[in-house]
Amino acid sequence: MDRLVIEGGKRLAGSIQVSGAKNAALPILIATLLTDEPCVVENCPTGLRDIRTTVRLLESLGKKVTVDGAAVRVESTGSLKTQAPYDIVQQMRASVLAAGPLLARFGLVRVPIPGGCAIGLRPIDIHLKGFEAMGARRIADQGDIIMSAPRLTAGVLRLRFPSVGATENLMMAAAATPGRTTIKNAAREPEIEDLGRFLSKLGAKVSGAGSATVVVEGKVKLSGARHKVVADRIEAGTFLIATAAARGKVRVLGAEAAHLEAVIAALRKAGAKIGSGRGWIEISMDRRPKPVAVKTAPHPGFPTDLQAPWMALMTLATGFTKVRETVFENRFMHAAELARMGAQIAVSGSAAVVAGVEQLSGAPSMASDLRAGAALLIAALAAKGRTTIQRVYHIDRGYEAVERKLARVGARVERVK
Ligand code: EPU
Repeated sequence: MDRLVIEGGKRLAGSIQVSGAKNAALPILIATLLTDEPCVVENCPTGLRDIRTTVRLLESLGKKVTVDGAAVRVESTGSLKTQAPYDIVQQMRASVLAAGPLLARFGLVRVPIPGGCAIGLRPIDIHLKGFEAMGARRIADQGDIIMSAPRLTAGVLRLRFPSVGATENLMMAAAATPGRTTIKNAAREPEIEDLGRFLSKLGAKVSGAGSATVVVEGKVKLSGARHKVVADRIEAGTFLIATAAARGKVRVLGAEAAHLEAVIAALRKAGAKIGSGRGWIEISMDRRPKPVAVKTAPHPGFPTDLQAPWMALMTLATGFTKVRETVFENRFMHAAELARMGAQIAVSGSAAVVAGVEQLSGAPSMASDLRAGAALLIAALAAKGRTTIQRVYHIDRGYEAVERKLARVGARVERVK
């Protein structure tokens, strides 16, 4: 298994390019199940493990997939299967997004219920209630959910919580269901907007994606499309926070400031100077950060996916910082690993209090999940001395060529096989 070895304490300078968003590319690739015509999805972070798993999922369901650099071409080879394999769902929970398109098109789908993961229980009740509200019947069988409906019916769906995955699953189901489906209390993440754009290109009429009410006018037969995936705001935010922690001046290319308002506001309060233009954000920071409390929330709130990176930054703050996690119930696994590097963090339930220290020191550490891994990387870049991070495969789920990108701005990061 690979390890990352980081010699910390190097100022970062230069520019760094973000990839297409993993969390937009996943549902968009899965939405190609809605049509028999060819689709080309460009700006896909094809180096990521989750994208490779998605390719395998599409192939296992009967699609032919060709990856050419950052472009993924998805074609039909005949009829599709309506059963997602357990080993793929187990590796990647987002596989449950195949349920919406398959159920809407074929009236039947069988998916293994994804278990919990390192950051929480992550049930899928909101997805399932939505399908039921569209007329599907559900039975559970040996750890699988089977959903059936001769034809889903369009209507008004109200989500009890703005779940990103449920919004996406229901938008895809609605795209292949004739009539107008309205999703209320929908998630508003930029990735939902991107999926909305793709579904519109397939021939469904989507409006309101990115707001709390999404309206989808579906059709039985959808066509193929070509689409360029939106930039990864979480990757961009990670590089901004990393620069604030290690200090320096970095321009993040491809990033959209409008997708990161809460993070940019927090970075400014912490003392960073931030400028932005179309397709770039630049940060400079040359002192210890001021403490800035954050509370995660669905978009446009502070993203849960940047909570761990933010905590890593706040370990160096000039005072006490409170960090509250409201989206996932167990997303503080990084706290104990950061403590091994000299951070002072007390966790109690959904809140953590970080007492800033002047300097972290490098240490052997282990990533427990994707964003916890990013937090360790940020701490390592700022710390004095050498840090090794084990279980890098977690980081590889969401950051493409991370060591090469960081090396380009002066970080000393090496992957050891
Ligand atoms: N939830 C339920 N029932 C449901 C669905 C969700 O209780 O039916 C709960 C979850 O357990 C969680 C909260 O609602 O506590 C938020 O879940 P949501 O459905 O919004 O998240 P997701 O679709 O499972 C996506 C991203 C996550 C990101 C979250 C929140 C993808 C593939 N994943 O997950 O990304 O943290 O939205 O923004 O889009 C990551 O990239 O590191 C990552 C975990």
